[in-house]
Amino acid sequence: MTKIKLSSENQDLSRFEVETLLKIKTKKRGKYLYFNKLNKKSVISKLENSALVKKIYFEDGSHWKNSSSPYKGRFPKDKPAFHPTVLKPKMARLMCNLSNSKSILDPFCGSASILIEGAFLGKEVSGIDYDSRMIERAKINLNHYKIKPKLLKKYNALNISELFKKNSIHSIVCDPPYGQSSTTSNSNIRQLFKQFIENSYPLLKKGGRMVIIIPSKLSMNKLIFPKYKKLGQFNWYVHGGLTRRFVILEK
Ligand SMILES: C[S@@+](CC[C@H](N)C(=O)[O-])C[C@H]1O[C@@H](n2cnc3c(N)ncnc32)[C@H](O)[C@@H]1O
Repeated sequence: MTKIKLSSENQDLSRFEVETLLKIKTKKRGKYLYFNKLNKKSVISKLENSALVKKIYFEDGSHWKNSSSPYKGRFPKDKPAFHPTVLKPKMARLMCNLSNSKSILDPFCGSASILIEGAFLGKEVSGIDYDSRMIERAKINLNHYKIKPKLLKKYNALNISELFKKNSIHSIVCDPPYGQSSTTSNSNIRQLFKQFIENSYPLLKKGGRMVIIIPSKLSMNKLIFPKYKKLGQFNWYVHGGLTRRFVILEK
């Protein structure tokens, strides 16, 4: 059996990422995941861009270690247009991987960290943000890495049904405002999340995913439009005042 050591940062998210990238179910024992019937080359090629896998042990006794430093030059301090709400590249890559899609839309794109990591993974990327100063930052950062988004536009995410057709979006990956240093056009953050999640449902293709960070302080009670399949919900402690909750939904 092939064996993978789960990330000590978050074992459940690490497992979800592996299963999404390999498109199989695995068995978990202790800190390890086990699976069989996949050849070595294909396992490495599917997991080499994982955000959380560090080591894979194969049945023949060999192992593969992720020793590259994939985010070199893309840490927040390296980007020409900085904003404090920026997501670290590892988190952005993780979210893109969880989308299970080659094309992603971030409707709260801010300074574009999700779009940048998505593009480095070879995905087609589109972003909107209702703040024109954020769109300027996103443009500067995307230009810096020579990334050409499919779409980058100042727009209110609550109105995306005016911008996209039904069943047209492959996946949505986003980190909406949580009422700390990021701002919102809607004073009621809960209402913003609820409305956005519901409005997006018809726009996603069947099987399309939404990977969204929902502040852990926000109760999940009746927040998710019931037609979605809820694939997973994982908490990631960041620091005293902030735990990020990653939620993965599917149409
Ligand atoms: C947490 S930040 C996103 C940060 C981004 N992930 C990054 O790494 O740069 C949230 C963003 O949502 C934007 N925003 C807030 N309300 C919005 C709305 N109704 N429509 C579109 N964007 C909105 C804010 O301008 C802000 O840039």
